[in-house]
This record gives sequence, structure tokens and C-alpha cells, in this order.
Amino acid sequence: MHLSLLEPRGDRTPLPAIARRPAQLVGDTPVLWVGEPFAPPGRGFHAKLEGANPGGIKDRPGLHMVGEARRRGELVPGAPIVESSSGTLGLGLALAGLTYGHPVTVVTDPGAELSVVRLLTALGARVDQVPVPHREGGWQQARRDRVAELLARMPDAYCPDQYHNPDNAAAYRPLAAELAAQLGHVDVLVAAVGTGGHSAGVTAGLRESFPGLRLIGVDAVGSTIFGQPAAPRLMRGLGSSIHPANVDYEAFAEVHWVAADEAVWACRRLARRHYASGGWSVGAVALVAGWAAREFPAGTRIAAIFPDGPHRYLETVYNDAWCHEQRLLGRPAPQEPDEIAEQDERVVTRWTRCSRVRDPLGRGATRAGVR
Ligand SMILES: Cc1ncc(COP(=O)(O)O)c(C=O)c1O
Repeated sequence: MHLSLLEPRGDRTPLPAIARRPAQLVGDTPVLWVGEPFAPPGRGFHAKLEGANPGGIKDRPGLHMVGEARRRGELVPGAPIVESSSGTLGLGLALAGLTYGHPVTVVTDPGAELSVVRLLTALGARVDQVPVPHREGGWQQARRDRVAELLARMPDAYCPDQYHNPDNAAAYRPLAAELAAQLGHVDVLVAAVGTGGHSAGVTAGLRESFPGLRLIGVDAVGSTIFGQPAAPRLMRGLGSSIHPANVDYEAFAEVHWVAADEAVWACRRLARRHYASGGWSVGAVALVAGWAAREFPAGTRIAAIFPDGPHRYLETVYNDAWCHEQRLLGRPAPQEPDEIAEQDERVVTRWTRCSRVRDPLGRGATRAGVR
């Protein structure tokens, strides 16, 4: 069978001509070359279109974390799955729930796009929305507290805990194998960081073949992951108000913080010029990957991971009225990042780069079990 539903796939496997189950449609996503206007003529980057998965990039960890929890006996047949998600992992878990036969509850907050809430509900997941943010940890901490509350009420329930579960990062080994086969060689990887899962997992996989791979992390202005103070964030997917253990700080050569208006500019440019676009993380990653294509020597092979497609962002990123209200339009096009020497040198409010990456909590070097 193309995909054993109980054993994780370690390597690249082409999609079957006819899938017998929706889980068999996950992976083997296409790559699109993106050049101008992000890079000068002849330069560009390879965008890995994870929006081609049935739900998005998190179909991979959704299936893998649940499969592994079942294998270890942490998740017993038919028991409920409860997780905090801004949407993408919720879609992956809905797929895993359907595949393995578990009811799924996705804890989210009022910032979740209505279309995602509707879609999750249509796919059979229960959506539990927290009403108020946590005082310090924001919406994310409020969602995590709610998950803890639900788990205490349902003794056999399982929470994958995507922020700290090493299976999240390990789920991206096949993505690394796909990229290696599709591109032949990868010099630079540009990846958004939320839980840290896909940047850690893809990098660990790629470095087995390309040890000199340079990883560029893309975070949101106002995110705490790389040592900036927490601030309200419009962007979802990338960024965090906690410090997830899956972030492999040592793997990063540099980090870029991107602001919401800059991501919107890039999303809209991508849509117009390349048809393939996506949400906040796609825009932010495209902006930074285009910069890398200008900055590094000609011939440097750059891969950029686009986690999802544009559809769930039609009422935000692609809605003129909403963007005007949020003052995201009409700014000059972002050209170059500002530079800071240390992650906490000052509070950043626009696209900014730092090439000294360290864990702001000073945790140990080996994490996520993916080295
Ligand atoms: C759309 C989107 N982009 C990027 C990310 C960040 O990916 P990761 O959690 O693997 O760091 C997420 C995570 O939820 C996401 O949903």
C-alpha cells in the first residue's frame, strides 16, 4: 500500500494514481519557481507548495503524531483527541481523526477565520473557542489552559501538544526527502516558525544530505520565539507568545521578523505574478526568500516552504476593506530588512534581521529528538 496508516513514512513516496483514503493524498507536494518581482531577472527561489495537501502543511504532523501516539499506546482506539490550533493543525487532526477513528476537538480563539471554523466543523471536528486571552501568554496560553481543562475532564483523551512533541518535527522527514529529490541540492532553506516543527524537521532531514544547509527562520513582529517581547499580532500561523520546545535554535543561521503589512504586500504580489499564494506565513517567507535570492551568490539553490494556500485568508489578507481598516495597505513596498546584532537589542516593528540566533530561555542544545 502507498501509505501505511499505522507506520510513519520515512521517505518520499509518490502519490498513488487513485487514493483509497484521503490520508494517501498527503505529501509529494509540487515546487514552483518564484522569480520577479521578488528577485531580479534570473534569480529566485523554489517554493514548496504545502497548500497542495488536502488541509495544508499540518496534515503531515497531524497524521504522524496521532499514528505514533497510537503505536505507543498513549492514544487508545476511539479515544478523543484535543489540541490547541489556529487552524492548520486542526485540519490535519480532523484528517487523522477520520483516518484512525477518533473524535477531535480543536481549541481555538476568536481570531480564527470563520471559514476555517466552518471547515473544521464540516470535517467533523468540534471547535471550542476561548473567549478571553491569558494576561501574559495571550490567546495561545488561553487556548492551552482550555486544553488542560478539557483533558482533566476526559481521562482517556490525548493531546498531541504540537509545541513540544518531537513527533511534530519528525513528521517532516518525508518533506525533506521530497525537496532533495525535487531540487537535487539545497543551499538555503527559508521557513516560517510557529511551533518550530517544520523548520526543525525539514532541516534535520536535509542536512543529512546537505550538511552546509543554511536555515533562515521567519517570525512575526510581536512574537516571543526569538527573544522579542510579546505584542498583539494580526498574523496567524507563524509566531508565538510562548517558547515552544520544538524550535531548534541551534539550527538557525539567522532570523527575520516580518510585519503584517509586509506579509500582505508579498501575498498579493505572489497572487498577481505567480498565481500560487497563501496566508501570512507564505507572504512573510516569500519576502525573505526573495531577499535571499538577491543577497546570496547567483546559483545558490533556495527552497522556501509555503505552508498553505490563500483560501482561508480571503476575508483578511485579500480583503481590501479589512486591510484598510487595519492600516495594512498603501505603505511603501518593503525592500530590505533592518539589522540588529542581538535578538533583544531593541523592539522591532518592521522587517528586521538578526544573524545571531539563540534560545531566549537558554535551554539545552538537544531538543525535539530530530538531530
Ligand atoms: C499557516 C501556517 N504557517 C506556518 C506555521 C508555522 O509552522 P510550525 O508550527 O511548523 O513552526 C503554521 C503553524 O501552525 C501555520 O499554521
